[in-house]
Amino acid sequence: MKILLVAAEAYPFAKRGGLGDVIGSLPLALKDKGVDVRVVIPKYLDIPSNYRSKMEKLRSINVKVGWRNQYCGIEKLEYKGVRFYFIDNEYYFYRDNLYGYYDEAERFAFFNRATLEILPIIDFKPDVIHCHDWHTGMVSVLLDSQYREKEFYKDIKTLYTIHNLKYQGVFSREILGDLLDLSESYFTEKKLKFYDAVSFMKGGIVYSDVITTVSKTYANEIQTKYFGEQLHGLLKEKRNDLRGILNGIDIDKYNPRTDKYIEQYNARNFKIKLKNKTALQEELGLEINKNVPLISIISRLVLQKGIDLILAVLDEIMSLGVQLVVLGTGDRKYEYLFQEAGERYRGRISTNIMFDEELAHKIYAASDIFLMPSLFEPCGLGQMIALRYGSLPIVRETGGLKDTITSYNEFTGEGNGFTFSDYNAHDMLFTINRAVGLYKNKKTWNKIVQNAMRCDNSWENSASEYINLYEKLMLGD
Ligand code: GLC
Repeated sequence: MKILLVAAEAYPFAKRGGLGDVIGSLPLALKDKGVDVRVVIPKYLDIPSNYRSKMEKLRSINVKVGWRNQYCGIEKLEYKGVRFYFIDNEYYFYRDNLYGYYDEAERFAFFNRATLEILPIIDFKPDVIHCHDWHTGMVSVLLDSQYREKEFYKDIKTLYTIHNLKYQGVFSREILGDLLDLSESYFTEKKLKFYDAVSFMKGGIVYSDVITTVSKTYANEIQTKYFGEQLHGLLKEKRNDLRGILNGIDIDKYNPRTDKYIEQYNARNFKIKLKNKTALQEELGLEINKNVPLISIISRLVLQKGIDLILAVLDEIMSLGVQLVVLGTGDRKYEYLFQEAGERYRGRISTNIMFDEELAHKIYAASDIFLMPSLFEPCGLGQMIALRYGSLPIVRETGGLKDTITSYNEFTGEGNGFTFSDYNAHDMLFTINRAVGLYKNKKTWNKIVQNAMRCDNSWENSASEYINLYEKLMLGD
């Protein structure tokens, strides 16, 4: 089975969020199950030099972008047994950031066509091309409209995974001819038209053989107006070709038993967590106290993550006698409000506006509670990592949060965290209060921590689900 993954990010080369983590670990899991899997991403300036210097240049070709003819270098690097290909064009990808430029449509139109063009040259004919998020939405469109008559491309199937429906890659209709070599006949509701513009995301949904998203609940949610980002009608129509497959996490990278950044522990001796707690309190200038519940937030600081709820009742949360550690970057407004709170609650709130892998591990290991009250959450990785480190998640019941966290039930003793359903700050506060109350009852708390640490969110099951789907596609059902 030959599978090509195409995406805009892949850890450890380039990562801005969960997408990068997934494209870093899914191919390894597929490879372990015997799949011949390759990955294509852009060669960004941001890729660490130790990887860059090891890349092997295979060849260069020219790739059409409308009337332009652009240089496309093809570079290769084998990483943990998986072959990664990097599309090189300094004009498009040697910039300070991965995203956020005026010519985003052109950069990714180039990347999408380049992906198809390099296949005969690297001599890899995939059974399935598996694309991810809007940046790769036009791959299946181009394949269908301009490559099918060529023998090489005739039988290739396509799978499109939505990691976040909110970001859609919507551009003016001129890009059809100007960047994609598509005629005006593609500007219809059934094809690429999205209001008065053209949508990469819609292209991926309409033209791929099967669509997946990263949890079962999100797969259902996006068929409704509230979560559907104006594409719910289309997704509902496509519901028979739409499936949810939960992401896994890299259980070697996030393993409290072997984690080199922390005092190591496992589900049996997790009292060692306390050492991590005092070490972190000391490092971040929090009052050193083993008995105060330490709540952590490790997140992009954006609307999606429910930051508004937290800020709305921050003083009430603090009045429950807790400590709070925040790690992440995002909207200036949220960054500022957390910084200000850190000043007001010196020794009780630690605000860290940055992304720091090492500190993230220390916080997962040190904290008692992990707060993630997202407005929507396609899958979410933070809550799964927190489970592994025995930091009990408090989450809103949406998307992947709903599918991975079950609220503690005092009658059955089941549950691995705490949940609430409405997007309401006081419902969240009530749930935090409940958790803080239970925290005082060590026996119960420790039982829930054990439940949490025993959860299996490895890629094992998810990779098998993808393989089943690839197989189905290949058989043409
Ligand atoms: C996006 C989603 C997140 C998901 C990740 C990986 O970042 O917001 O919920 O976990 O993609 O699929």
